[in-house]
Amino acid sequence: MILGIETSCDETSVALLDSDGTVRVNLIASQIERHRPFGGVVPEIASREHLQHLFPLVSRALDDVHASWSDIEKIAVTAGPGLIGALLVGVAGAQGLSYALGVPLIAVNHLEGHLFSPYLQRDGAAVPLPDRFLSFVISGGHSSIYDVRGGEVTMLNRTRDDAIGETFDKVAKFIGLPYPGGPQIEKRACDGRIDRDRFPFPMPQFKDQSLDFSYSGIKAEAIRSARQQKIRVEGDPRALADFCATFQEALFAQLFDRLDAIWSRLREPMPAQVVMAGGVAANGALRDKIIAWGEGRGVIVRLPEKRYCTDNAAMIAFAGLQRTAMAGDPRRVTARSRVA
Ligand code: KG4
Ligand code: ZN
Repeated sequence: MILGIETSCDETSVALLDSDGTVRVNLIASQIERHRPFGGVVPEIASREHLQHLFPLVSRALDDVHASWSDIEKIAVTAGPGLIGALLVGVAGAQGLSYALGVPLIAVNHLEGHLFSPYLQRDGAAVPLPDRFLSFVISGGHSSIYDVRGGEVTMLNRTRDDAIGETFDKVAKFIGLPYPGGPQIEKRACDGRIDRDRFPFPMPQFKDQSLDFSYSGIKAEAIRSARQQKIRVEGDPRALADFCATFQEALFAQLFDRLDAIWSRLREPMPAQVVMAGGVAANGALRDKIIAWGEGRGVIVRLPEKRYCTDNAAMIAFAGLQRTAMAGDPRRVTARSRVA
């Protein structure tokens, strides 16, 4: 079995996977309630919480699957990117365990964890990775589309300013919704109507034809119109719902604008699948949209189960397994320069 450890941000997570990628257990100790009074993640609180929860969580995971310490054959841990103090708790803990148990330690890039997470499904059992797929990583810290070919990862674009999840969180905070903002906005948007005349959000385009994302313009417009039209959580619920529906739609429209442009620039052999990962990929409206996009083009779309969209250790262990499987392969997993 492989033990996965994730402590890069505000969730302490521990998972045990069989070596074929089957998830035996995936535990998450969320700190959201501890950070909520501050409207965002407080790094010092995050580190302390990880320290408190990490080892009890590993013991509980072993108990849950009736396994013992000697069943752990290797350990995968998130080594970055993330909050430095939070990462240190996970890495130091994993190093100690690796030394004590005499098992190898695999340092995993958090983004690689998200990138491969759509293949962690079907009741926990992994499905085979295609030769080529496009992967969106859309979370609180990242917004990028990657081209994954034979295990080699190429970043095709990235955000020039805010990440999409960060934009959800900041605008939600401005209108008085609790952290994290994404699920809160989604909930309000369900009852809303898209009204682009009332809320005219921009579609950013760059003069140099770059396909990068940019969310600061939508954020600024959201804050401007919310202030001007007095959109608040304690205000008119209809107006709030319409605002959330239109704002969310504008954020997603940009994802599809870039996807269409990237798709038209790709050369054969075309990617067999398009996948989405990261916290924002848990959004129901977005999931429906990407499924419809795939149906329209005859492209298979894969989405992680919602519990594997937000940060979790199962995806870290799974990426660790991918990495070891590819260790003898010259096509190594590395994030290379952008091509778009
Ligand atoms: O992947 P994640 O757990 O952590 C990072 O690596 O950043 O993503 C967290 C982000 C937050 O910004 C949160 O608001 C957003 O994902 N998020 C959502 C939804 N669930 C989480 N955004 C939109 N709709 C959701 N249902
Ligand atoms: Zn993440």
